[in-house]
Amino acid sequence: MADVVIAPSVLTANLADLAASCREAVDAGLDWLHLDVMDGNFVPNLTFGPPVIRSLRKALGDGPTFDAHLMVSNAETCFQDYIDAGCDHLSVHVEAVTHLHRLIHAIRGAGAGAGIVLNPATPVEAALEVLHDVDLVLIMSVNPGFGGQSFIPNVEAKVRRLADAIATQVANGGRHVQLQIDGGVKAHNIAELRSWGVTNAVVGSGLFNDRASVAENLADLHTALDA
Ligand code: DX5
Ligand code: ZN
Repeated sequence: MADVVIAPSVLTANLADLAASCREAVDAGLDWLHLDVMDGNFVPNLTFGPPVIRSLRKALGDGPTFDAHLMVSNAETCFQDYIDAGCDHLSVHVEAVTHLHRLIHAIRGAGAGAGIVLNPATPVEAALEVLHDVDLVLIMSVNPGFGGQSFIPNVEAKVRRLADAIATQVANGGRHVQLQIDGGVKAHNIAELRSWGVTNAVVGSGLFNDRASVAENLADLHTALDA
């Protein structure tokens, strides 16, 4: 079965020493970093923005892929700041963007990968309309805003439908699209998510927690995937 990219979410990491937390993930062998940007408006929480991401890029160098999950209301006006700060991929919420098709093309035109994000209550059709324009679709399996929430199992049908649509698109010579899931992903469910068609799993509290190191938690995830 295809491998799954594990994208560590730094939300439950030590935010007072973000670079060290990210380094711990990179040193454990993870080369994607999922950066949860929250604006206190689209979601009821605040994290960090372009200046912090720029500093992180400086601290970590060019190696890791910066995957920014923009939980913001104004992605259409601020996306360039995130690219300039060193992000490789930007994912924007379909619920927060008026001219989604235009924004996807603007992000790609500026040299970054473009992803779209669907909240748990958002129908899959929103993604199907732009599937041939994007690099990644992110299915939220929690309501965005906080780390450490429980996985919402109802998203299964949406993930499977998207996986089918992506396979059909690829079979017809179209673009391959990464299918990412975010929220409540742990060692006990990651293999099942892969069987649904997920190719990229965001893991926050399953990697950054008080119980074990990132490397130990990652080993548990790999064991689950290898079983
Ligand atoms: C939620 C964020 C996440 C999330 C992942 O708004 O997008 O990336 O915090 O954390 P866990 O894995 O703890 O659910
Ligand atoms: Zn996220």
